[in-house]
Amino acid sequence: MDAILVKGNGPVNGQIPIAGAKNACLTLMPATLLSDEPLTLTNAPRLSDIKTMSALLGSLGAEVSSLNDGLVLAMSTHNLSSVRADYDIVRKMRASNLVLGPLLAREGHAVVSLPGGCAIGARPMDLHTSALEALGAEIELKDGYLHAKAIGGKLKGGTHEMRFASVGATENFVMAATLAKGTSVLKNAAREPEIVDLVQCLRKMGAQIDGEGTSEIIIQGVDRLHGATHPVVTDRIELGTYMLAPAIAGGEVELLGGRIALVQSFVDKLDEAGVDVWETDAGLKVKRRSDHINAVDVRTEVFPGFPTDLQAQMMAMLCTAQGESNLEETIFENRFMHAPELMRMGADIDVHGGVAKVKGVKRLKGAPVMATDLRASVSLILAGLAAEGETLVSRVYHLDRGYEKLEQKLQAVGAKVERVQGN
Ligand code: UD1
Repeated sequence: MDAILVKGNGPVNGQIPIAGAKNACLTLMPATLLSDEPLTLTNAPRLSDIKTMSALLGSLGAEVSSLNDGLVLAMSTHNLSSVRADYDIVRKMRASNLVLGPLLAREGHAVVSLPGGCAIGARPMDLHTSALEALGAEIELKDGYLHAKAIGGKLKGGTHEMRFASVGATENFVMAATLAKGTSVLKNAAREPEIVDLVQCLRKMGAQIDGEGTSEIIIQGVDRLHGATHPVVTDRIELGTYMLAPAIAGGEVELLGGRIALVQSFVDKLDEAGVDVWETDAGLKVKRRSDHINAVDVRTEVFPGFPTDLQAQMMAMLCTAQGESNLEETIFENRFMHAPELMRMGADIDVHGGVAKVKGVKRLKGAPVMATDLRASVSLILAGLAAEGETLVSRVYHLDRGYEKLEQKLQAVGAKVERVQGN
């Protein structure tokens, strides 16, 4: 199995292009199920999760072609041949549950496997099911599968307030409501940029939606949606990840396609830590103000708060900050698995429940470490950039789920990162 070898070698300088957002693409793709006309996505990221979603959509009868070296996804669901999302695919990727809303809306019924646990926590589906029940769905759990059907064969508009602003439940509700009869309102909706992107695409397909990016989304159901072409929004998590490379290793890097509005809360924390970020014509530039990083406290929150998907990477930077930082994780119950791996590299971290206390050390030391999930893996690579000696990160299949051409992008700014045969 492949591993990534990182040799700590000082400053990084140059440009890194940022891809389309994995999480946006994974919700835009199931939108193809809502229409019998073609949906084309441009600026798609080249990732294994996208292949998994293509396979799932294919199993339902959609035709998905990857064109232009994977940057364009041409999809068509003229014939929907199945409404069943099998455990074999869903267990690999939780975002598979995003077919539930579209299938229910188009066919009036769907059978979708429960995803099961994953490395970062239990991740139940109750918020999805109660949101869809508000649109007239009846959902029953049998044999590990959610069996959902629209009472009377068609969803109808309804109002629902979520107890927590779940990203996926918001996406399922919005997609389902586009074809429901009448008006639907979702209160305490999630406001992430990926949801705004989904709504913009659905609007191009003929949906009538207002309020995206706020906590109340209003959807006026229409009889049918048509084809569209839509560019996937920039990946704010890939952006934030690479912004940390010069913050950790020194140097100045321009992130092509980046915008501060996508990562404002993260930029605020970098500023506190002593890292400058400014916009350029082509994206964003990042540079440390001095040769040290200040300790900062971070609390993950729903958008526009600090993203949980950047917590592990931020911890990698804070390992060598001056002073003690507190990182509080409020979104997932078990998302500090990178901490013991960073400790193998000499970090001083104490985890208690949802809080990690990170006492800055002068320098990390390279070590063999193991990736446990997507963002944890990349935090270990970032840590390795400025560590003394070599860091070997194994189980890199996690990385291939969310970072395209990671080694090439880091090599382009002078980092010594290569893929090797490992355990
Ligand atoms: C999405 C992102 C993921 C990110 C997360 C939070 C995609 C494909 N993935 O995941 O990268 O980390 O948002 O920003 O877009 N929950 C429930 N019941 C539910 C649904 C969720 O209790 O029915 C809980 C989860 O266990 C978790 C929290 O809500 O603790 C956040 O989950 P949610 O916002 O739904 O995240 P995802 O959409 O799964």
